[in-house]
Amino acid sequence: MPSAPQVAPEILHFYGSDFDEATRLTGTADGRLELVRTRELLRRHLPGAPADVLDVGGGPGVHAAWLAGDGYGVHLVDPVPRHVEAARRAGIAAEAGDARALSAADGSYDVTLVLGPLYHLLEHADRARALAEARRVTRPRGLVAAAAIGRYASVFEHTATTLLAKDRVHDAVRDILTTGRHDPGRKGFTAAYFHTAAGLEGELRAAGLGEVALYGVEGPGWGQLKAVEQYTGERMAENHSAFEAALRAARLTDGYPDLLAAASHLLAVARR
Ligand SMILES: C[S@@+](CC[C@H](N)C(=O)[O-])C[C@H]1O[C@@H](n2cnc3c(N)ncnc32)[C@H](O)[C@@H]1O
Repeated sequence: MPSAPQVAPEILHFYGSDFDEATRLTGTADGRLELVRTRELLRRHLPGAPADVLDVGGGPGVHAAWLAGDGYGVHLVDPVPRHVEAARRAGIAAEAGDARALSAADGSYDVTLVLGPLYHLLEHADRARALAEARRVTRPRGLVAAAAIGRYASVFEHTATTLLAKDRVHDAVRDILTTGRHDPGRKGFTAAYFHTAAGLEGELRAAGLGEVALYGVEGPGWGQLKAVEQYTGERMAENHSAFEAALRAARLTDGYPDLLAAASHLLAVARR
């Protein structure tokens, strides 16, 4: 029997104490843009409620909460105890677990979300295992939606924020561009893999998933939001003209594959 997969300790530590994932999608304008767009893109594909959704790597349950509000039955899996506890406090059924070895039965969910695990699995074989598990637990013709961090997100982000001025950050970004990998401690994030759009689509297809639709979640305007918040100290509401512009740009550029490279996150929605 294969041994149970181990989540890298630096990832457990990052989400367990260094970083507050519970406010990532609400505390900044680019986070809110990610939330609004992920929600609208998923709603475009989801079957009508009620349907059963497995939220793998669901964190503290920000997406699970609106899905439950929409009438879906949601079950969340995450390896970080703090996330599982937060999800349960929000009224979401949640268990500790790993995307590579799910406890769910074959074909038991209408929709499986993998919005996070793929970018914390640095080895191709681990991502393949996570996608094979997502496919296994999804019913035939059900949906699998997987998120990735874009390969070019770091260069856009650090141009706007740290100005790529420190060698340490500059070199970490350079290595992400070349290899897709970020090793912990080099810049302010934990161990991560950054996908190209073609790489993400290829991984889903190799896992036996079809009819893959690809989206650039935040579109091309998210770095601008980060820069405005950083340089003005202002907290931008969703009715701020710059937020509305970034949202319009994201919607406008859906369907232009070249611009997938400009988004911070990629979302792939596929059918089993
Ligand atoms: C950035 S958060 C995303 C949370 C949420 N799904 C979202 O889209 O906002 C990444 C999540 O992946 C989880 N994660 C990391 N490695 C994982 C693994 N091997 N299996 C399942 N989840 C994992 C983390 O604990 C964290 O909750």
